[in-house]
Amino acid sequence: MDKKPAILAIVGSLRKDSFNRRLAEITRDALGDRATLTILDFADVPLMNQDHEFPPPDAVRRVREAVKAADGIWFFTPEYNHTYSGVLKNLIDWLSRPISKTEPQVLGGKPAAISGITPSIAGTIPAQDHLVMLLSYLNMRVMNVPRVSIPGVFGLLDEDGNLALGDAQNFVNEQADAFLAFINRA
Ligand code: FNR
Repeated sequence: MDKKPAILAIVGSLRKDSFNRRLAEITRDALGDRATLTILDFADVPLMNQDHEFPPPDAVRRVREAVKAADGIWFFTPEYNHTYSGVLKNLIDWLSRPISKTEPQVLGGKPAAISGITPSIAGTIPAQDHLVMLLSYLNMRVMNVPRVSIPGVFGLLDEDGNLALGDAQNFVNEQADAFLAFINRA
């Protein structure tokens, strides 16, 4: 790929102080000037209702265009009850639908990376595994290795409450390198 890859970050938490959003920002720093990483704002996407698919709501058009324009999608998933969040499923359900009789859904063939961070010691792997199943069904090119799951987030806050990953920063850096190479193999 000649141009700098445009990566779209989808954070499965709408929480203002979301740790997963902060992980996305740290990942953006790890990518540096090798790529752009834009965090998708999708708080205005309504609940899926097939009565409202054609024509789709403006917010749905907007998120579809953002996905279409991206060279890769990086999912940052919280774990809710051992799976990904309902807001993320709702967004992906909208993105999974045909745009018109001639245009298929926008996720197929897109490279996908997955990360997650959580307070629990168990990490976010169950949620990530469920997400892999969903994204694979939608024919995304999922980068299974490496994925990053960071447990015990409350132990990783500095005295100002900022997220300081310590040794886990290396895993984020390695995943950033790997995803750039993965996108370039497309
Ligand atoms: C959670 N949380 C949680 N954590 C976890 O490690 N495993 C789990 O199964 C669950 N289940 C769960 C269900 C629901 C409904 C909520 C709201 C929360 C805790 C959750 O991971 C934690 O609040 C994270 O900080 C959420 O991610 P953000 O918002 O910080 O990105």
